[in-house]
Amino acid sequence: MSETNSQKEWRTAITSNQDGKILIRGYNLDNLIGNKSYAEVCFLLLKGEMPTPNEAKMLDAIFVSSIDAGIATPSAVAARTVFSGGNSLNAAVAAGILTLGDAHGGAIEKAAGMFQDYLKGKENLSDAGIEEMAKNIVDDAIKNKKRLAGYGHKLHTVDPRTKRLLDVAGDLNFGGNYVKLAAAIADEFRLKKPEQKLPLNVDGCIAAIISDMGFDYRLGKGFFIIARSCGLVGQVFEEWMREKPFRRLAPHLHEYDGVPERG
Ligand SMILES: CC(C)(COP(=O)(O)OP(=O)(O)OC[C@H]1O[C@@H](n2cnc3c(N)ncnc32)[C@H](O)[C@@H]1OP(=O)(O)O)[C@@H](O)C(=O)NCCC(=O)NCCS
Repeated sequence: MSETNSQKEWRTAITSNQDGKILIRGYNLDNLIGNKSYAEVCFLLLKGEMPTPNEAKMLDAIFVSSIDAGIATPSAVAARTVFSGGNSLNAAVAAGILTLGDAHGGAIEKAAGMFQDYLKGKENLSDAGIEEMAKNIVDDAIKNKKRLAGYGHKLHTVDPRTKRLLDVAGDLNFGGNYVKLAAAIADEFRLKKPEQKLPLNVDGCIAAIISDMGFDYRLGKGFFIIARSCGLVGQVFEEWMREKPFRRLAPHLHEYDGVPERG
């Protein structure tokens, strides 16, 4: 694009950096430093306005819930493996972030998209209407063998982070219709597919809460990336400090099951 009508090719409404002053959404960064928390400034940057105290606490709780989940997660394994191959901290953390897809962290985007699709414009739906909606969603998932993002877990039948986050959301007044729909879907799964154990997982829970906070579903993965980046930096730094390079899978963890030697 040419520079006609003062429209430059690269434009932003997030941060201005001119004449020695950095303004984030119009607030001088000098004044944010030391006065506002990281979660508050994340909210400001992503939403354009300063959060209320409850919004700031909720976003902080979401970040804490997703900060790390141990060495066995796909992101930690990938990050540590890439570092072990002789790469830098930034390459290793980036590799961990690249694993965040529909089954790991990325489910926030899909789940929030689903909740927002169903409830946009129906924020005043009654509790009975929400239960009916949940019933239809689960019936459709079972009939058409759909995997609903935000439900199920490899380890937990009740995800402890979900319970705590829902309690915090209730205390801070973010238990609106999105959270109610998310919980009603889990109840329906419990009723219709008790053998499969499909609890609302932490991704689904965050998806519902950010929807109640008015965030666009397309930011879903972003919340997880912001939180888990810290966990991955920790995982990679520990790999660096404790382990020798070039990790290999131990023999009991892998096998060859292709054709035997051929003449
Ligand atoms: C998290 C997840 C990968 C765990 O998978 P798992 O416990 O290994 O479960 P499986 O893939 O073996 O599936 C077991 C059965 O439950 C069903 N199932 C699993 N998750 C489901 C979901 N979210 N919605 C509907 N059905 C689901 C499977 O279709 C399968 O049914 P079948 O036995 O009739 O074929 C899986 O539940 C999932 O894909 N969830 C959606 C993505 C998500 O929310 N990820 C975030 C995780 S924190």
